[in-house]
Amino acid sequence: MNILIVGAGGREHTLAWKIKQSPLCNELFIAPGNAGTALCGSNLQIETTDFEGLRKAVVSNKIELIIIGPEEPLVNGITDYFNLHAETRHVNVIGPSKNASQLEGSKAFAKSFMEHHKIPTAKYTGFTMENYSEGVDYIRKHALPVVLKADGLAAGKGVLICQSHIEALAEFELMIMRSKFGEAGKKVIVEEFLQGIEVSVFALSDGDNYVLLPEAKDYKRIGDGDKGLNTGGMGAVSPIPFFDAALREKINRTIIEPTIAGLKMDELDYKGFIFFGLMIANGNEPFVIEYNCRLGDPETEVVIPRLKNDLVEIFSAVGQRKLNEINIEIDERAAATIVAVSGGYPGEFKKGYVISGLENEPIEDSLVFHSGTLKEEEKIITNGGRVLAVTAFGADIREASEVGLYMLEQLYFEDMNFRSDIGYEFV
Ligand code: AMP
Ligand code: GLY
Repeated sequence: MNILIVGAGGREHTLAWKIKQSPLCNELFIAPGNAGTALCGSNLQIETTDFEGLRKAVVSNKIELIIIGPEEPLVNGITDYFNLHAETRHVNVIGPSKNASQLEGSKAFAKSFMEHHKIPTAKYTGFTMENYSEGVDYIRKHALPVVLKADGLAAGKGVLICQSHIEALAEFELMIMRSKFGEAGKKVIVEEFLQGIEVSVFALSDGDNYVLLPEAKDYKRIGDGDKGLNTGGMGAVSPIPFFDAALREKINRTIIEPTIAGLKMDELDYKGFIFFGLMIANGNEPFVIEYNCRLGDPETEVVIPRLKNDLVEIFSAVGQRKLNEINIEIDERAAATIVAVSGGYPGEFKKGYVISGLENEPIEDSLVFHSGTLKEEEKIITNGGRVLAVTAFGADIREASEVGLYMLEQLYFEDMNFRSDIGYEFV
């Protein structure tokens, strides 16, 4: 069958690399893609939020399966859009409906969903302009640190962990009264701070059944030792050594199963990935920090390479609501991905530097995925903050990250920066 991946980052290159290996894949398209996805299929110059452009491409290229990578088109209703149009109704779209995508698109929606279905999460209250002064009182009495979250999508910047009441009150005012995060932040969730270790857990749902993918941990801070500014993600590892059978069982029973059942009960049509951002408190008490309606980036770069199954076969089972017939098989080895970023990122950075070393085959047990790259004439140049994601395998996380660092030494662009300690707590 002909397949379309929507998106342009490391996640989409990883999906393209995996899908291209399937004998079920005929032609593969990526919109808009990057220089890496162009090695796996044909890039289409269509933006992820250009629904009409995407629909025309789906029809003219006889596409039967679409995988939506990023959250924005999902929250804007791309899946409903394809279902609504007669000529694309038959297409198997991997990505939840607009209503169901509110699990990521609205933190207030996600919190009330969890409250309603008794899914463990931090205690919270929501505020808007209408009950602003109650919010001020609430924050004044709140234990520290206190967490403020913009309700809507805010490009990963809408969460503030405030160490003082003065800071929290100032931010609260900026968000509600001065639209710091635009419309997305005019509703604010104020919640308690959870202490623990964060883990990313991924399920794929067909609306009735689900399968679990390997868990992962991502590293968001720019600097070694988790220091410095937050980024889109500097690396990830999988599996997580402390993620044992007992913890897995507890997460399934208290979080994943009630989420899948809750979606059904609330008639939220969910065919696609669910990303559970969890905080594990005291080593064995899982709480949901957030839901995402898609795969994570850079978690995908370790999760998907560990999956042994044919991914197209899994997606076809989603379309037929037959995921119960799929047995997930996982590579036992550990995987680590290290992201090479542009100098200055996550602040200002330059684009357009030539990347060298990509012309050679990756070293054994490693893969090079592109995040922000562009092909210009015969050269591949940097085109974003996150530029490359190098994934490596090893017997354990130490070995995997050592192989990854060695692979990174074979690659170069000006001002290239990366963390050398991905997976540090587990080595
Ligand atoms: P999000 O944008 O929802 O992914 O949140 C960004 C990050 O903020 C998370 O990955 C956590 O590290 C942190 N965070 C969010 N909510 C809480 C909370 N209630 N307690 C502690 N940390 C949190
Ligand atoms: N790695 C976190 C995210 O994709 O949102």
